Amino acid sequence: SNLDLWTRSDQYHNAFLIKPDPALEATQNNTREKGINYDIAVSPAQGKFLHLLLLSIGARRVLEVGSLGGYSAIWMARALPDDGEVVALELNPLNAETIEENFQNAGLASKVRVIVGPAHASMQAMHPENPFDLVFIDADKPNNTNYFIEAKRLVRKGGIIIVDNVGRSGRVCDESDKNPSAEGVRALLRHIKDDPEVEATTIHTVGEKGFDGFTFAYRK
Ligand code: DHB
Ligand code: MG
Repeated sequence: SNLDLWTRSDQYHNAFLIKPDPALEATQNNTREKGINYDIAVSPAQGKFLHLLLLSIGARRVLEVGSLGGYSAIWMARALPDDGEVVALELNPLNAETIEENFQNAGLASKVRVIVGPAHASMQAMHPENPFDLVFIDADKPNNTNYFIEAKRLVRKGGIIIVDNVGRSGRVCDESDKNPSAEGVRALLRHIKDDPEVEATTIHTVGEKGFDGFTFAYRK
């Protein structure tokens, strides 16, 4: 199947570009053991992409909206300086506890702050002294636009907002598909169209996580 091919291609490239990573394997194992659906985390290649992007912009502060077990958050935290921080927003207390554990086990506890609760309310309550360099939106898709509007307020000018899962095996571009997640992505696209505060593009992804995509928005 296509997924097998994309998975083989991911694995082929990863064998050259991504070293075995016991800390991240432990994170995924611990997350799975908690009964959390760790399969929906970003892939290793996507995690490393976020990591390299943060390195290249000299990022210090990252906001993650929806963190599951903290897999992508660990990739991102590793790109930050000692005084850097990932602020992770999670609705589910079990996920939040698991993120804390996974960061502890990875030796990165000082680089994460988990805020438990509905992410939109958490974002609305935030008035950080220092804005974020990057916001990664990867939570419930029907709220994408709400998260994006707050992300624009919380990210620095010249910073980046990335939204995960914008391709969804092509379901997003099929407007007859009324799946609420697909509709959430479409609503975001309608919002971004002609939004004077960002310039954005979607990069579709194929690989071990199927056919999906990142929307990448530059905050003007
Ligand atoms: C789903 C959510 C995600 O964030 C993801 O990366 C893949 C799948 C989901 O809810 O199905
Ligand atoms: Mg996702």
